[in-house]
Amino acid sequence: MKITVVGAGNVGATVAQRLVDRELANEVILTDVVEGMPQGKGLDMLESTPVLGSDVKVVGANAYDETANSDIIVITAGIARKPGMSRDDLLATNAGVLKSVTEQVAPRSPKSIIIVVSNPLDVMVYVALKVSGFERNRVIGMAGVLDTARFRTFIASELNVSVEDVQAFVLGGHGDSMVPLVRYTSVAGIPLTEMMAADKIEKFVKRTRDGGAEIVSLLKTGSAYYAPSAAVAQMVEAIAKDKKRILPCSVFLKGEYGMNDVVLGVPVKLGKKGVEQVVEIKLTDSEKAELNKSADDVKANMAKVKFS
Ligand code: NAI
Ligand code: 2OP
Repeated sequence: MKITVVGAGNVGATVAQRLVDRELANEVILTDVVEGMPQGKGLDMLESTPVLGSDVKVVGANAYDETANSDIIVITAGIARKPGMSRDDLLATNAGVLKSVTEQVAPRSPKSIIIVVSNPLDVMVYVALKVSGFERNRVIGMAGVLDTARFRTFIASELNVSVEDVQAFVLGGHGDSMVPLVRYTSVAGIPLTEMMAADKIEKFVKRTRDGGAEIVSLLKTGSAYYAPSAAVAQMVEAIAKDKKRILPCSVFLKGEYGMNDVVLGVPVKLGKKGVEQVVEIKLTDSEKAELNKSADDVKANMAKVKFS
């Protein structure tokens, strides 16, 4: 398994470190436009491998030839939010970055699976999909695992139970209109609504929607990366080990949930072919309306991207 991580900033470097810690690849290539930085971080990580007992070769690079024939490419390149900025404020800059990165990596690794992290997430998946020309099952966005992890954290902490016992799904776009599905949220199989009052649940739904901004306002210089990198590592593991995990991921829809030509977070089966199935779950009218609203927000941003 050869994995390239493009963008060696906070998310990219932490993703690479998690891959090394968990020996999820034989080779990790870490690239960035900043000269020396990916090489320095890569060498530092490589020098941790004897201590970790992890036989992963880590290489830092500024050019793309080293990335050739990667199995998975994680794209974290671009700018991150600062206080007062929304994810959508990153669109113009990061669309340009995604185009140039995808043009470089896709032809060198034509069979790879691309995991997009850069924001605004769903629109960046669309850019990588269009520019790579890959089938939609091989261009996947990470957001739902992160948003769901935030929702699970808040619930577990409030109920004082193990995070492992809280199951949840956050669907829709990775933006203010994301859709935490309370009806599908359970604690060891017990519906959340049996365990927690409605007003508390609503408070955590809102905190989840604002989860990215909460971290930005604390950090002041950038956005979250520990939980995002853990989410990426879980997706990589599902693909690398062909685990067929059902995880919320961002994918181009072709009729599922009654939607076409939009990238949106939905439950998918993740295995060695990437997205092996889009899992359709029944939604109530109000849940459908929320998902439609989220899709409209993503579509409005997709329309802003110029490809010529
Ligand atoms: P960062 O600023 O720490 O790192 C970004 C890196 O990208 C920098 O090192 C920069 O030099 C590099 N870069 C810029 N243009 C490049 C290019 N053309 N080629 C290669 N590298 C390039 O930012 P951070 O915190 O790592 O976030 C990265 C992106 O991920 C941001 O857009 C952020 O909003 C997004 N993000 C998305 C999440 C999600 O849930 N999907 C979660 C967390 C972050
Ligand atoms: C987050 O949700 C910045 O999108 C990123 O933390």
